[in-house]
Amino acid sequence: MRTIVLWLACVLALASPPWAQAAPDDHAGAIGALADVRAAVAEIVRIEDGYAVGHGAYVRAAHRAMNALVGRRDDGYAASYGDPGDGVGTLGHLDIMLDKVGSSLWTPAIEGAKANVLAAADNLQSALGQKEMEEYEADLTRALANLALVVGRPAQDGVLGGISGALGNTTLGVPWGATSVSGCALPSRAPAYGIVAQRLVYVALPRRSASAAIPDELSISRVVVRADDVVLYTHGAVAATTACGHASRMQRTREVALAAPEPPFTAAQAHAGSAVYRKSCLQCHGADLQGTAGPAVAGTEFLTTAKRNKWSLEDLRVTVFQNMPFSNPGSLTPKQYADVSAFLLASSCYPAGTRPFPQTDSSTLAAVKLGPISGAKPTNAKLGTCAVK
Ligand code: HEC
Repeated sequence: MRTIVLWLACVLALASPPWAQAAPDDHAGAIGALADVRAAVAEIVRIEDGYAVGHGAYVRAAHRAMNALVGRRDDGYAASYGDPGDGVGTLGHLDIMLDKVGSSLWTPAIEGAKANVLAAADNLQSALGQKEMEEYEADLTRALANLALVVGRPAQDGVLGGISGALGNTTLGVPWGATSVSGCALPSRAPAYGIVAQRLVYVALPRRSASAAIPDELSISRVVVRADDVVLYTHGAVAATTACGHASRMQRTREVALAAPEPPFTAAQAHAGSAVYRKSCLQCHGADLQGTAGPAVAGTEFLTTAKRNKWSLEDLRVTVFQNMPFSNPGSLTPKQYADVSAFLLASSCYPAGTRPFPQTDSSTLAAVKLGPISGAKPTNAKLGTCAVK
């Protein structure tokens, strides 16, 4: 009985998708919090720019900035001055987000943002008590520095990323109701958000509407244009996809299906591809193709992933020719790409033949499905790979 319960617990843990979304209002809450910070900053900047004159105007601006930050429910809220924000206040939005059981990948960033909102509010409060213009300005400058940290940087992870970083790199960036998929695989349709271990890996948008639909806070590190869609990778993509290898190791099963027809490539191509691999791919996919910064690209793990995702040889070709090397996509010649693809296939223990791996688009590749090869005799039993001569 005990074993069954344990077993069930494991199955359930595996079954819950790793790309589960943030709670319904968290994304909207973060966007609201950012809008309120920006409203507060605008009030302060307007005074510092000299548009407002006279003591009354300064006091009014500081109160309005404070209102946008703390929200109606806070003691510091002074209704008579008006509120350039939405009334909930940055603090109100962040509190609602943090007021949940359990924590998310974005929790540290939002907690850090909250601490900086409180520090900014303290500095505004202090500014309101100043008689001297110089001291008033010094307090406001400190408040602005705090608010810069609240907004954060989209390209930065964790606490230093602030709200923008959390929106740009984690599930917080996924609007409620949007389609989210495993970021370990390339998206099969757009729009979709690719997620790995609560990290936002990419946003895929239909090509036609892409320019209008790019999320404001997305931290884009790389753009891949495909036939029908545009895939925008975040800065966290490389780090996140290392988790993909772990997931597939856990799900490794003994599969014996044979993919037919055979992938076309020659032994000479595979041999030439070995040098290309060492120069342009090894740094991320490992000396034994086992995966390091990037996922495994040959052997049991790769073939199991390929089978699960129903990858055809065409999917592999597009990934390699268009998206790799990850750091510099499209930088190799068609011959180098064909050779390195042949090397990957040979390393997975596919037999070489007489037809070469094509250097250009080829309609035949879509019919070749990838997956574990029955009767394969790997030279590295642990990884399920074959040495390429
Ligand atoms: C800077 C690191 C880096 C370099 C260099 C690099 N890759 Fe990748 N590769 C990745 C990452 C990260 C992924 C997963 C990202 C994704 O799914 O788009 C990936 C995915 C792949 C995949 C799909 C495997 C899977 O399970 O998703 C293949 C095949 C691949 N790379 C082949 C290559 C080849 C061939 C080269 C050399 C020409 C290369 N890569 C160079 C980082 C790299």
